[in-house]
Amino acid sequence: MATVLIVDDEDAALRLCSDIAAEVGLRVRTATTTEQALEILDELPVDMVITDLRVPELGGLELLRRLREHYPGVAVLVLTQYGTIQTAVEATRLGAADYVTKPFHIDELRRKLQRVVHEQQLDQENRVLREQLRTRPGYKELIGTSPKMQRVYRLIEKVSQHSYPVLILGESGTGKELVARSIHFSGSRKNKPFVPVDCSALAPTLVESELFGYVKGAFTGAMHNKQGMFESADQGTLFLDEIGNLPTDMQAKLLRAVQEREVKPVGSTERVSVSVRIIAATNRDLEIAVRDGDFRQDLFFRLNVVQIKLPPLRERKSDIPLLVQAFLDKFADPGRPTPVLAEDAIARLTAYDWPGNIRELENAIERAVALGSGPILHSGDLPSNLQYGSPGERIPSPDEVTTLEEMERRAILRALRETNGDKLVAARLLGIGKTTLYRKLKQYRVDEGAV
Ligand SMILES: Nc1ncnc2c1ncn2[C@@H]1O[C@H](COP(=O)(O)OP(=O)(O)OP(=O)(O)O)[C@@H](O)[C@H]1O
Ligand SMILES: [Mg+2]
Repeated sequence: MATVLIVDDEDAALRLCSDIAAEVGLRVRTATTTEQALEILDELPVDMVITDLRVPELGGLELLRRLREHYPGVAVLVLTQYGTIQTAVEATRLGAADYVTKPFHIDELRRKLQRVVHEQQLDQENRVLREQLRTRPGYKELIGTSPKMQRVYRLIEKVSQHSYPVLILGESGTGKELVARSIHFSGSRKNKPFVPVDCSALAPTLVESELFGYVKGAFTGAMHNKQGMFESADQGTLFLDEIGNLPTDMQAKLLRAVQEREVKPVGSTERVSVSVRIIAATNRDLEIAVRDGDFRQDLFFRLNVVQIKLPPLRERKSDIPLLVQAFLDKFADPGRPTPVLAEDAIARLTAYDWPGNIRELENAIERAVALGSGPILHSGDLPSNLQYGSPGERIPSPDEVTTLEEMERRAILRALRETNGDKLVAARLLGIGKTTLYRKLKQYRVDEGAV
C-alpha cells in the first residue's frame, strides 16, 4: 500500500482530498504546514505528496523544490487556486507530476490521482527490472543473488534514500552490520560519520556517558567535556548494534533522545540538538522481549519503522558458491593463484547447516586457505565440525533400509529441497554432474513442482 501525504491548511480541502485518496487505496497522512510535512517526510516512507501552493510557511513551490532535491522518488500533485495557472505551470516545470485547480471536481482529482499512482507503480517496477538486469553478484559488498537477498537489496535501496529508523534482525553472523553500512553509504549521509555502538559491550554504568557524552566534573575522572556517540554521529548514522541488550533504564533515555532529537550530556543541564539517523540491530526476538517486559514497547515501535530481516545462510544455500569464491579471493596469498575447492569440499560446505552463518563460512575458508596443502582444497582441509555433515543427518536403522534406487531418489529430492531447486548446486551437493542430475530426474520422474 502506497502512502500519500496531503499538505493543505484548508480544512475542507484536506478532508475531501483525504477521502478521495483513501478511496483510491492510498494510506493517508496529512499536514497543515510545510514544516510539519518535512517532519513527516523525514520520519515515514512517503510515496506521493499532494500539496496546495499557498500553504504556510514555505509555500508549495518551495516544498516541491525540497522534495525534488531530497526525495526525488516522491511524486507530487499540486493544488492551485483558480486563476493562478501560471504558478501551476511553474510547478510542473519544477517536476510536479500534475496539478488540479481549486475548487476541484472530485472526478478530476480521482482520475489524476489514479494516474499518478499508476505511473509511480510502473516506475517502481522498472527500477526493479533494471536492478535485476544488472545481474551483479551482490549489492556493493553484500554477496548473494538468492531471491531472499535480492529482497534485502531492494529494501536497502529504498530506505537509504530516507532518514527514518531501520531495525535489522537476523541470527549472529548474517551480515547485520554490513547491511547497516550499506544503507549509510548508499544514502545522502554517506559523507557524514557512520558511528557503530555495540550496546552489549558497554558497561551499564558507562552507557549513558558513552551515548550522550559528559561535561567536565560530571563524575570523578571527568577531566574535560567529552562528546557522546550521538553527537559524533551528527548529520550521519548512529548504528545501535545489539540493541536487545540495552539496559532497561537506558531504553527510556534513548527513546527520549530519538524522539526529541536532543541529548543531555551527563552532568550538564543543557540539551544539545542532534540530527542522526538511527539504525538498530539485534539477534534477539524483540517482540518476545517486549512481551517479557525486557524491552520497552514504545522504543520498539520507534525503532521498528522499517524492518529488514536477514535470512540465515541455511535458507539461501544457493549463495554458498559465490560467497566461497569471494572469500577464496579475499584470503588467497597475493603472490599465488587463488586456490580452488575440490568437489568433495564444496559438497561438504553445501551440506552443512551453518549455525554461525556467513561469519562461520568466512572463517572456514580463511582457515582452509591458510592450512591447505596445495592449490586444490579438499574436504579434509575444512574445519573438523564440517566433516560429518549437518547435525540432523543420521544413519537409517536396518528396518528403514530400502533399495539403492529409492535412496538415490530421496537424496536427489532432499538436495533439491535444500537448495531451493537450484539444480547446479544440488548436483554439486550430490557430487554428480549437472547432466547426470537431469538424467536421473527424468529416470525417477521427479516432479520438481513437488520438491
Ligand atoms: N552477504 C554478505 N556477503 C559477503 N560477506 C558478508 C555478507 N554478510 C556478512 N558478511 C561477512 O560476514 C561477517 C559477519 O557479518 P556481520 O558482522 O555484518 O554480521 P552480524 O549479523 O552483525 O553478526 P553478529 O550478530 O554476530 O554481530 C563479516 O565479515 C561480513 O563482512
Ligand atoms: Mg554485528
